[in-house]
Amino acid sequence: MKAFTRAAEMQTASLGLRSGGKSIGFVPTMGALHEGHLSLVRRARQENEVTVTSVFVNPAQFGPTEDYRKYPREPARDAQLLEREGVDFLFAPPVEEMYPPNFQTYATVEKVSAPLEGQFRPGHFRGVATVVLKLFNIIQPHRAYFGRKDAQQCVVIRRMVRELNLPVEIVVCPIVREPDGLALSSRNYYLNGEERRAARVLYRSLCRARELVEKGERRTEAIVREIRQLIEREPHARLDYVAVVHADTLEPVGRVAGATLIPLAVWIGRARLIDNLLIEESGSGLGFHL
Ligand code: PAF
Repeated sequence: MKAFTRAAEMQTASLGLRSGGKSIGFVPTMGALHEGHLSLVRRARQENEVTVTSVFVNPAQFGPTEDYRKYPREPARDAQLLEREGVDFLFAPPVEEMYPPNFQTYATVEKVSAPLEGQFRPGHFRGVATVVLKLFNIIQPHRAYFGRKDAQQCVVIRRMVRELNLPVEIVVCPIVREPDGLALSSRNYYLNGEERRAARVLYRSLCRARELVEKGERRTEAIVREIRQLIEREPHARLDYVAVVHADTLEPVGRVAGATLIPLAVWIGRARLIDNLLIEESGSGLGFHL
């Protein structure tokens, strides 16, 4: 695996690969890698001739009171894992390389960035869109891989790619979970033993939502009420939001119909965790993605 810290060097290597006809698969990460990230890397390796991963904790997507400074950083372990997975290039720039002094150009995807995470983390998706756009320009991927746990992020990036005519295919991959259902996340590192047990409430409440819909419940109000109650009953949990929205527009819907997303964000101790249930409707009925 070859590692770069300078954008110009990474870009020169990528342009060389592209002009040599190689397909490039890209997995952007903030490091502290887990099986979720590695599942993206494996998919990228299957579908492309060259795989590039970035490790960059992006200050622009953290609010002033958020965990930017405390976010887990394990560069040596990350590099070892990526090497073992057969990644060809690692791009791990220092902050000044991505945001030199007096940096002032940002990408904003307006409507779909506003609700849900956007309401609780103002400016978050502006930071995400900006860094992803920069990474795409540097790495020049044919395909880029994202996990569906960050469902709103996937919607924001897909829209940016479409509306800015970026020549990259966005591949959204399934959520990877612990055996008890907790979605893998670098922020799970913050949980102590009791909190780790409490964190199961996210998956449990989404399973309950699936069960309700399977039994014929379609009303948003009833589904949200049930999830709220389950979360309120867990003493270590504090709900930021739960919603039932259209999976592409993220606009609230009154009933489950068509492509519907049920995202939630819950504080467990000092970890803010997100998860979601995606429901798709086809000729053969409803499909559930947890
Ligand atoms: O999902 C993440 O880890 C980050 O938001 C991303 C896409 C790497 C941008 O910093």
